[in-house]
Amino acid sequence: MSKVSVLFVCLGNICRSPTAHAVFRKLVEDSGLAAEIEIDSAGTAAYHVGKHPDTRSMEVARGRGIEMLDLRARKVDFGDFYAYDYILAMDDENFYNLKELALPEHHEKIQMFLDYSDEFSEREVPDPYYGGAQGFEHVFDLVDSASKGLLNHIRQNHL
Ligand code: 4NP
Repeated sequence: MSKVSVLFVCLGNICRSPTAHAVFRKLVEDSGLAAEIEIDSAGTAAYHVGKHPDTRSMEVARGRGIEMLDLRARKVDFGDFYAYDYILAMDDENFYNLKELALPEHHEKIQMFLDYSDEFSEREVPDPYYGGAQGFEHVFDLVDSASKGLLNHIRQNHL
């Protein structure tokens, strides 16, 4: 059984993709699959490289029992397109930026994260950075739902 690897991608890697990283990680750990699934997150922009997640994202996650203080922002690297099986974009801008960076043979790996949600019909996880607390709660709900769908998909197709 080969390991499956997942990379979550947003713009700054301090709000949406680290939330997805931490939520999916908890789900994978609680399912006893930590040895089978490798998880990371990254941003298409370098503004916040080295920083911990946004405190608003951390507060919402902590309120739902998820810790993400250990995560640090990094930028997407060309090697990521080789290293990861699933490269999951939070919004259309991330999606098209990733497609532009990747070689054609890697395009299939780049998908919209919310395509894995069974409950929400939205296509994008909206950027919460300049908005209020409600936006961060909504990000968490979307991410939580898509993480469950993603784990089901990986279980059915790889494990
Ligand atoms: P993220 O949110 O892409 O979900 O991490 C953002 C973080 C920072 C900025 C924009 C979005 N920014 O413009 O600095």
